Amino acid sequence: MELVKKGAEADIYTSIWNNFKTIMKIRKPKNYRNPTLDKNLRKQRTIRESQTLMEVKSFGIPTPLVYFVNLRDSSIIMQRIPGKPIHDLPNSKIISLSRQMGNHVGLLHKNGIMHGDLTTSNFILFQDKVYVIDFGLSQKTIKPEDHAVDLRLIKEILNSAHASIMEESWKNFLSGYRNVVGSTTYSKIIKLVSEIESRGRYATVV
Ligand SMILES: Nc1ncnc2c1ncn2[C@@H]1O[C@H](COP(=O)(O)OP(=O)(O)O)[C@@H](O)[C@H]1O
Ligand SMILES: [Mg+2]
Repeated sequence: MELVKKGAEADIYTSIWNNFKTIMKIRKPKNYRNPTLDKNLRKQRTIRESQTLMEVKSFGIPTPLVYFVNLRDSSIIMQRIPGKPIHDLPNSKIISLSRQMGNHVGLLHKNGIMHGDLTTSNFILFQDKVYVIDFGLSQKTIKPEDHAVDLRLIKEILNSAHASIMEESWKNFLSGYRNVVGSTTYSKIIKLVSEIESRGRYATVV
């Protein structure tokens, strides 16, 4: 096993499991949390992540296959998608793939799922398909306010990590999103995104 990423929440290892190229995602204990609470939280997120990875496949969203879940140490062994995170691609690619990202997020929302951590590192491009990962904070919700929170986050990421292409990417993302959810839902959610943004601005002034 080779450690490839030490994240804030989990460590990521690459490995081979029964001849398959795999990723092991393990949520390490956090000693600043109460131990019982910590164990439950890691377990809950591991369950949520593995369930959602599998569930959203039926909506047509590409995700890694889940091979093995261990709730004792909060680890998941899943298919390794041997592509690149959208975050690391050239600008022109990010712009054109934003539509597919928007499509996927629209499909999630239409099926009552909020991703909870929409960043450009949580989409992986492999063989012209965009895979979605990192579902530990996902929630089952049909509340437009929750869906707006998802959009607000990815918009913020585009703004900060991809500032020079923000406008074009966001336009494509929204176009992909609207195609899936329809224009009525789209308008409602966009209004809520603006509301969240104006609250944010107000909060920073005070
Ligand atoms: N199934 C996978 N296939 C390929 N790369 C992956 C896979 N899962 C995670 N990664 C890589 O590891 C990184 C971190 O994994 P992620 O599940 O997003 O955890 P974190 O909660 O730390 O963000 C991803 O951005 C991606 O680069
Ligand atoms: Mg991630």
